[in-house]
Amino acid sequence: MTASPKPQPAPDRIDPIAFRNACGAFATGVTIVTTRAEGRDHGMTANAFMSISLDPPLIAVSIAKTAKMLALIETSGRFAVSVLAAGTEELAMHFAGRPSEALSDPLRDLDGLPVARAAAAVFATDVAQAVEAGDHVIFIGAVRALETAPDTQPLTFHKGRFGRLHEETPPMLDPNWMFGGSHW
Ligand SMILES: Cc1cc2nc3c(=O)[nH]c(=O)nc-3n(C[C@H](O)[C@H](O)[C@H](O)COP(=O)(O)O)c2cc1C
Repeated sequence: MTASPKPQPAPDRIDPIAFRNACGAFATGVTIVTTRAEGRDHGMTANAFMSISLDPPLIAVSIAKTAKMLALIETSGRFAVSVLAAGTEELAMHFAGRPSEALSDPLRDLDGLPVARAAAAVFATDVAQAVEAGDHVIFIGAVRALETAPDTQPLTFHKGRFGRLHEETPPMLDPNWMFGGSHW
């Protein structure tokens, strides 16, 4: 099914700060999006990440048009996503424009792409689709390789603050049970 484009409200109808705060109510994990272009590795912190499709396995990230990462992914045609582990705030800020000298060698290789060592999960993808959306571009990646560290807790982000999980309800799912058509 293809959704038909809906008329956009005039930009001055939504207050940008109210919009940012409303979006910040959605608690997320934190990822580093990485790529390797012309022999150089580049990373960028992003919380606009989601799983898209189980079959085929697709994930997506949303990258600001102002980010250096945009042209680099367009050049390489590939990107990786590292779901950061709890306690990696400094690493998250390092790849968000506040470089830290204290971090030594934070990346390793997965399927020819750089990924974070301190991660709960890592995905290496080939770009399947790029969708222009306002001041961002959504890259949909076809997953070529992945690794998970099941005992690693995630770094969280909520209302502009990093955090960690304090409490989890008992598992609802058997990790080996596949849902038909669903992806949670
Ligand atoms: C927690 C957090 C989440 C962020 N999420 C995104 C995001 O989803 N997309 C994006 O384009 N920038 C995001 N940013 C901002 C980029 O990390 C930042 O602008 C970065 O310096 C861009 O790097 P580059 O221009 O070197 O590629 C986020 C920053 C933080 C701290």
